[in-house]
Amino acid sequence: MRSSLRRSCPAETDTLALGERIGRALVPGDLLCLTGVLGAGKTVLVRGMALGAGIREGAVRSPTFVLHHVYRGTRLVLHHIDLYRLGPGADIALLDVATLLDDGAVAIEWGEFADLQRLAPLWITVDTSDPAARVVELAGESIPERIAAAWSDA
Ligand SMILES: Nc1ncnc2c1ncn2[C@@H]1O[C@H](COP(=O)(O)OP(=O)(O)OP(=O)(O)O)[C@@H](O)[C@H]1O
Ligand SMILES: [Mg+2]
Repeated sequence: MRSSLRRSCPAETDTLALGERIGRALVPGDLLCLTGVLGAGKTVLVRGMALGAGIREGAVRSPTFVLHHVYRGTRLVLHHIDLYRLGPGADIALLDVATLLDDGAVAIEWGEFADLQRLAPLWITVDTSDPAARVVELAGESIPERIAAAWSDA
C-alpha cells in the first residue's frame, strides 16, 4: 500500500541531518528518486546521505554536469545521479540502474525525468511552497521501516 511521511526542514542543517539519518539506514538495492524544483535541497539531502553512509565530507558535488558520481563509503557505495540535463523522457538505459543496485544504493535527482517505476523507487519530494520551511516527503509502495525511522523524531 502506498504511504507517505513528511518532515519539516526549516534550515539547511535540518535537511542535512535528515539526509544523514537516511544515509545510515541505506543498504545496497535501495533506490531513492528525489524530486523538487531547482535549488529545493535535493543535493543537500544527498550530501547528508553520503555522511550517513561513511563517505568523506566534501565528496558530494552537484552532478548537474556529470550524470553519475560514485561515492565509496566505509559502509556503503552510493551512486548519485542527476537527470536534469537529460530532461523529461530521459533515456537512462546506458546507466543500467538495475545493475548499480546490485552493489550499492542509488539516489537520483530529477528522478521523474526517467521511467523508473519498474524498479519500485522510494520517492523523496522537497516541497518549497512554504518559503520558511522546506517539507521533505517520503512516499512509496513499500517503505522499509529502517528508512521510515529517519522521518521520526527519535
Ligand atoms: N531548509 C533547507 N534545506 C535545504 N537547503 C536549503 C534550506 N534552506 C536553504 N537552503 C539552500 O537551498 C539550496 C539547495 O540547493 P541544492 O543544490 O541542494 O538544491 P537541488 O534541489 O539539488 O537543486 P538542483 O535541482 O539545481 O540540483 C542551497 O543553497 C541551500 O543552502
Ligand atoms: Mg542538485
